[in-house]
Amino acid sequence: MLDPIQSEANQIIKQLETDLEKGNLDQTKYLGKRGLFRKLAQKIKDVPPEKRQQAGKLINQVKKTLETKVRQHLKTPSIPTNSIDLTTPGEKPKVGHLHPISQAIEEISRIFERIGFIRVRYPEVDWDWYVFESLNMPPNHPARDEWETFFVDRPDTTGEIEYDERDPRKRHPSLIGGGKLVLTTHTSNSQVREMERLKKPPIRMINIARCYRRQQDATHTQMFHQFEGLVIDKNITIQDLKGTLNYFAKKFYGPEVKSRIRPFHFRFTEPSFEVDFSCHICGGTGKVNGKKCKLCKSGWHEVGGAGMVHPNVLKAGGIDPDKYTGFAFGWGVERTYTLKPGLNIDDIRQFYGNKVEFLKQF
Ligand code: DAH
Repeated sequence: MLDPIQSEANQIIKQLETDLEKGNLDQTKYLGKRGLFRKLAQKIKDVPPEKRQQAGKLINQVKKTLETKVRQHLKTPSIPTNSIDLTTPGEKPKVGHLHPISQAIEEISRIFERIGFIRVRYPEVDWDWYVFESLNMPPNHPARDEWETFFVDRPDTTGEIEYDERDPRKRHPSLIGGGKLVLTTHTSNSQVREMERLKKPPIRMINIARCYRRQQDATHTQMFHQFEGLVIDKNITIQDLKGTLNYFAKKFYGPEVKSRIRPFHFRFTEPSFEVDFSCHICGGTGKVNGKKCKLCKSGWHEVGGAGMVHPNVLKAGGIDPDKYTGFAFGWGVERTYTLKPGLNIDDIRQFYGNKVEFLKQF
């Protein structure tokens, strides 16, 4: 009486074995609700009562066998060597992205390009003349101390011509065989270079480049980036500078952010200003819920310098200061970027620490 059940069980087991060999495991076909095992188990009701216990044992045995075979197969699936499962999801290659500072540089360029600024590039190892002297800082002028400069070791030829306050162009590197060579301490070296390139205004440039200074702490790195704007034309006024700064503040930080300028001193601009942006956390009030704003403490963030181009700088670039005026501004990309809403980076050295975990977040 049990023979038919036994032989059907054998068949089911055999069928499973061939399926497994072929690598086509479909568990539901054997062990599912409507599977072959279920059908076999239902046959128990045709067995006479006295044989039912024996039949039950047999059926339990069959179930165990099927389950063990499936389990073993799942542990070490015998995939036939000549078949590839094209439906298996592939491993996604890791996709990188631009470094956060490169992203910031792209964004800054786009913002200024929209109002007609042209991005330029100039040497990041440049003559002292472009970095200091043409910017109204004669040799040994104390204002130079502000820039902790890396000089490049080479014979210094600066002393060969007398300094002439009225005509700084007499000290142009092409006349004095170069002079001192420095790693650019600021992007302002591009100002006179751009005047020389275009020869005649209008000039509307944005120069974003690496700068180097002998400094290293949480807010300074020896290599960092600055961006420098320069506009020269007829009738350029402080209003144009203010409009440009406000436009940038709104585009980069959001429509509610404002800029302000405070009197300051730089040798290459007159008048000169420091530029602040209002804090996006407290909206420029310095207070959050009646308490001092933790991010800015005063309502404003100081970001950089600006001013109206000094007549001596225009002269050094071969431009007549009686006909043309201009404004310039310049400051750090890293600092500008870390003030963005949502970023909370208290140590800018992290940008250059090469930790993927840090960089992945941007
Ligand atoms: N070059 C200055 C610095 O590195 C910043 C600066 C100030 C740039 C005033 C300008 C300017 O163009 O007009 O600190």
